[in-house]
Amino acid sequence: MASPDIKQFPADFTWGTATSSYQIEGAVNEAGRGASIWDEFCRQPGKVVNAENGDIACDHYHRWPEDLDLLKALGFDAYRFSIAWPRILPTGLEEKPLQAGIDFYDRLVDGMLERGLQPWCTLYHWDLPLHLQELGGWPNRQTGEQFVRYADIMSRALGDRIKHWITHNEPWVISVLGHLHGEHAPGHEDWQETLRTAHHLLISHGQAVPVIRNNSNDCEVGITVNLCPAIAASESEADQQACRQFDGEYNRWFLDPLFGRGYPEDVLQTHLQKGRIKSRELEWILDGDMDLITAETDFLGINYYTREIVRSSEIAEADNLPRTVPAPGAEQVTDMGWEISPDSLNQLLHRLHDDYGAKRIVITENGAAYPTGLDENGNIDDIERIRYYQSHLMACQQAIESGVPLSGYFAWSLLDNFEWAFGYAKRFGLVHVDYQTLERTPKQSAKWFRDLLASRS
Ligand code: GCO
Repeated sequence: MASPDIKQFPADFTWGTATSSYQIEGAVNEAGRGASIWDEFCRQPGKVVNAENGDIACDHYHRWPEDLDLLKALGFDAYRFSIAWPRILPTGLEEKPLQAGIDFYDRLVDGMLERGLQPWCTLYHWDLPLHLQELGGWPNRQTGEQFVRYADIMSRALGDRIKHWITHNEPWVISVLGHLHGEHAPGHEDWQETLRTAHHLLISHGQAVPVIRNNSNDCEVGITVNLCPAIAASESEADQQACRQFDGEYNRWFLDPLFGRGYPEDVLQTHLQKGRIKSRELEWILDGDMDLITAETDFLGINYYTREIVRSSEIAEADNLPRTVPAPGAEQVTDMGWEISPDSLNQLLHRLHDDYGAKRIVITENGAAYPTGLDENGNIDDIERIRYYQSHLMACQQAIESGVPLSGYFAWSLLDNFEWAFGYAKRFGLVHVDYQTLERTPKQSAKWFRDLLASRS
């Protein structure tokens, strides 16, 4: 397989890895941390594989110096991490933040700077204070107001040192997996809640942007959306239509308002026809909201893992045209069952630039789960993961060469970690974690990255 040529990436391109608080920190009862919706969700029977939870996770709360040393040794420039909101405001409503919580992130950020690593901070990667959920959670507009206050607190506390901020991670996942499919906290299944959540995430993003800028001189602020390119399984009108709908609900529902186009009309009409909403005028959208959402940002963060081949379920399989795009075979999927499709990443980057006019794009997550464990020599030969990174970085290189303003790439993830509803069953790390001993062992993919990054000089 062709390997990316790192010299073809811009000299100031940012190379990093990403993690999130609940997935790695553990120490859930330490230093006054309040409960989050994920603590609660994990305790509900049947929600998480093997009834696992983030109580200990990778114990990063105590082992962070070792983790930052690893990042440094691998030669990365930057580290994308997230702050656990309930470490700062245990119920979300305290007037004053918990000093012990601020101190933890203070030490973590100083630890990055001492090692020459750029901190990229995500404010919301899904650990909502449980008390705010009890008051209605994201479907309630006030949760967004509390988020902006929390963003203010954190950017005041750390804005002198953190110069890259991400407001929310993946509004689609929070709204759809959390409030429609019930697969993520808080585990609800309700269309109205889903759409309200999406809206409150987007406006609170827009409101937080100027607040963060005001507290953190010369910083850059963005939001991270997870995008999934859709491709129709056949040329039949039914498949084409299903594909447009998938793209509308998954991608355009978030991109269109962020880029000033409002919510997509075709999706609104479908929601109306299917009785998911009562009127095309959504009552939770207040005057001025759509302008708030378009707050100017410095970059668009995207998380990319896979594409979706869409087949209409409205007509019988036999009545549909034969597939022109076959479903992927076992070789073409990762351990998540997600199809490996680097070309779709290249096309997506072009779409963001050519169609939406994105001026600067950062891939804030990309990576693959594979179960590879230690062999008899203690090596973890995760060749599939190396191939995944090679092909996706080739796609990035091609996009850059043809003019797409891609300026950073963060591998998901530094460590194997708590993969939400999948518990510890899915391993995305460049570094293997033994969950009994918590020992970290860099996989071959980590060494591959180290060598790639070393070839810069
Ligand atoms: C997400 C999150 C990560 C996941 C990763 C792999 O995209 O769901 O940002 O927390 O662990 O994407 O699924």
